Amino acid sequence: MHDLGRATPWTTPHGAASKAALYDELARELDALLAGEPDAVANAANAAAAIYHALPELNWAGFYFPRGDELVLGPFQGRPACVRIPLGKGVCGTAALRRQSVLVPDVEAFPGHIACDTASRSELVVPLLVGDALLGVLDLDSPVLGRFDETDRAGCERLAGVIVRHLGGTG
Ligand code: SME
Repeated sequence: MHDLGRATPWTTPHGAASKAALYDELARELDALLAGEPDAVANAANAAAAIYHALPELNWAGFYFPRGDELVLGPFQGRPACVRIPLGKGVCGTAALRRQSVLVPDVEAFPGHIACDTASRSELVVPLLVGDALLGVLDLDSPVLGRFDETDRAGCERLAGVIVRHLGGTG
């Protein structure tokens, strides 16, 4: 395991502005990376890898997809994770059921948080939506308490919009 190529933590005092700019750039890169490939698994895999390597201070980035009344693990980067999450359970199941992003500054303070990697301290889950239809969720975990803020939420919702355009179907 090595960290070559991984993003480094934010360095400027103008964190919000530079973070928003990073999301702008990542949205453009993702769009270019996924364009022209119709396979949803391939695109989800490349999206997870691109996000994991572009955003600093992550220990997990990936997808869960709805199957009946559960979410099932999709492509990801990070340590092996829980495979099945009931809709409404954990951070992922909550975001999926509400069809809203869920930002958790401290996972220990979120009732029902499902601990896959004990290193995770904060989490952001963004639903992948076409209208009200749920295609999946994008889940980001960080070993840093309070890692995600409203700029991350807005940025990841924008990334989710790009990803949705390139997922087509997940099987
Ligand atoms: N913590 C998540 C489970 C998925 S892992 O973080 C990869 C949750 O509570 O839904």
